[in-house]
Amino acid sequence: MPSELATMDAVRYRTAGGPEVLELESIDRPTPGHHGVLVEVEAAAVNPVDAKVRMRRDPPRPTTTGSDLAGTVAAVGDGVTDFEVGDRVVATGLHTARFSGGSFAECASVPRDLVARLPDGVSFESGAAVALVGVTAWRAFVDHAGLEPGGSAFVHGGNGGVGHVAIGLATAMGASVACSAKPTYADVLTDLGAETVVDYDCDDLVAAVTDEFGHADVVLDHMPETYLGTDVELAAFAGDIVVIAGPEGTVPDASAARSKELDVHMMSMSNLATHRELPPMAPILEKLGRLLADGRLEVLIDRRYDLDQAAEAHRAVLEESVLGKIIVVP
Ligand SMILES: NC(=O)c1ccc[n+]([C@@H]2O[C@H](COP(=O)([O-])OP(=O)(O)OC[C@H]3O[C@@H](n4cnc5c(N)ncnc54)[C@H](OP(=O)(O)O)[C@@H]3O)[C@@H](O)[C@H]2O)c1
Repeated sequence: MPSELATMDAVRYRTAGGPEVLELESIDRPTPGHHGVLVEVEAAAVNPVDAKVRMRRDPPRPTTTGSDLAGTVAAVGDGVTDFEVGDRVVATGLHTARFSGGSFAECASVPRDLVARLPDGVSFESGAAVALVGVTAWRAFVDHAGLEPGGSAFVHGGNGGVGHVAIGLATAMGASVACSAKPTYADVLTDLGAETVVDYDCDDLVAAVTDEFGHADVVLDHMPETYLGTDVELAAFAGDIVVIAGPEGTVPDASAARSKELDVHMMSMSNLATHRELPPMAPILEKLGRLLADGRLEVLIDRRYDLDQAAEAHRAVLEESVLGKIIVVP
């Protein structure tokens, strides 16, 4: 997109609802703002949170959907000295209440603290794809659970956006990893580093995992309403369970969890965009970029949509089984 244009395309919604509330509009191109970076978006990734936020409540003002982006810097605001026009960058966290300008647009203005440099060897699509899910897996394993080289992790839903990057990250950290997934994904998840892949529909998930893999130091759970009890059984003594989603979070057998000295962590990567007392977002994005550039981490792209197909992308991310990430290309 020529940078002198005053308007741009963006996918916005004004009321809460299904994917049909998303509309492609021509709106004023944003300015970077104080401590902001204006990015020409080359790729945006689709996340379940984008659809959940869209459904939850009417936004206070027309809101551009999308959390993740990768692109090139088009302008920098006052106080930004470490980025310049033309830099390749990645950012995430744009879905939080702090923003009305998300990433499904030709340009987005992002606070400097959410922006990191994207290495030359990493495509824009890979950068956008890894952002939110990579930060989530990083926070779960590194910041919350303290996963160590030689340790072990179990990931529910290994083919999902978070799941497949979590497998790769645990492997890159020198931990062994097992996951659940539909059998059709077993080979590719093994290639990503999973030592054991178990069908989540099998009769006895705990036996299937522990017989082959053993108990896990860290269990990563995005469906606690179904799996918190299972997590307690899957976890090793003094292990950690990290819960990243779900409306309910009560451990059904708390005495079993106590007997095993388990720690249960509840986390949301979104907090990094809003709480200054938490670790900053950009350094994590930088490290993820380095892992991708070095070939130590892989992010998989299931499919791509154009900006005018954003509603279909929002539908698919909640309703379809994907291997890795869905990308939207402005
Ligand atoms: N707290 C945070 O910071 C944070 C960050 C990122 C994501 N999240 C949340 O975490 C969840 C996953 O995100 P995502 O981006 O990875 O979503 P995703 O790409 O849609 O992946 C969902 C995964 O769940 C699997 N799954 C479905 N039914 C299952 C079952 N019965 N047992 C085990 N796995 C099952 C799916 O497998 P199939 O493909 O076979 O259906 C898929 O692997 C979402 O709710 C998201 O909002 C939270």
